[in-house]
Amino acid sequence: MRKQIPIEQLRVGMYVVGLDRSWIKTPFWRHRMQVESLDHIEALRACGVRSVEIDTEKGLDLASQGGIVSTVDPSSARIAALSSSRASSPQGKEPSTPFEEELSVAKEVYKQAKVVIGQAMGDAREGRGLDIEAISKVSEGLLESVLRNTEALSSLSRLKSFDEYTFFHSVNVAILALAMGRHLGMPREALSRLGLGALLHDIGKMKIPHDLLNAPRRLEAGEREIIKQHVMRGAEYLSQHAVLPEETLRPLLEHHERVDGSGYPTGRRRKELSQFGLIASIVDIYDAITADRVYHEGVPPIRL
Ligand SMILES: [Fe+2]
Repeated sequence: MRKQIPIEQLRVGMYVVGLDRSWIKTPFWRHRMQVESLDHIEALRACGVRSVEIDTEKGLDLASQGGIVSTVDPSSARIAALSSSRASSPQGKEPSTPFEEELSVAKEVYKQAKVVIGQAMGDAREGRGLDIEAISKVSEGLLESVLRNTEALSSLSRLKSFDEYTFFHSVNVAILALAMGRHLGMPREALSRLGLGALLHDIGKMKIPHDLLNAPRRLEAGEREIIKQHVMRGAEYLSQHAVLPEETLRPLLEHHERVDGSGYPTGRRRKELSQFGLIASIVDIYDAITADRVYHEGVPPIRL
């Protein structure tokens, strides 16, 4: 059963299916969610949400809490909600830093990432060597922020701009891949390799003519084939300019493959694709569809 309730009555364990404002204005990239922590509630409140719709078949009902919460002081309610959330959440997924506090750090991390990735793209375009150490540092910075509070950095990945699209896109794909990898419970070392691989997944685009990448029209078949070459051009460039674990190359090699075998460059099917490749293909397409480009206006996440 669905109920509209004020944000003050929202509790950890409830399942939210609607807001009184667009989800795109919030840091959450799914438009339905189980409230897993008080930070989720605070993040919604900080975005101006005043009432939410909950589904009581998928999460806690108001009736099971209402009378109790209204009679205890807010700090006791907070402690109770925290304990119940810790008991029910998978270990290690609790944000250690509140959303608002992490947001200011995340903005710096994001800014730094853009500078370093911008430099790396320029290096690739000119055929110079890559500063893998700087890129790895950026990847670690993104990972640390995602581990402290996934929503803070994810909210910045909503920044879309078709100027510098590939810079934004690379950083956004890394953030979304880290958020998904964390959600799947990947160990830290794996997340570290995933983040670096995701940052570099489109580096081969620097080897494709700029005019073609940003053409504000439907491309012809031959032109699309040239764009598809960015995968192998990227792999070729990295093999000449960096020494990376094979797993780290998976996001680059597989982000355009599809589980039904219709993707490129090899047309591999699901069982032949790595977990890194599958994650990269999902978040790559999500970010591409929701971004504004010269040839299409981004689709709001709520419509996906
Ligand atoms: Fe790509």
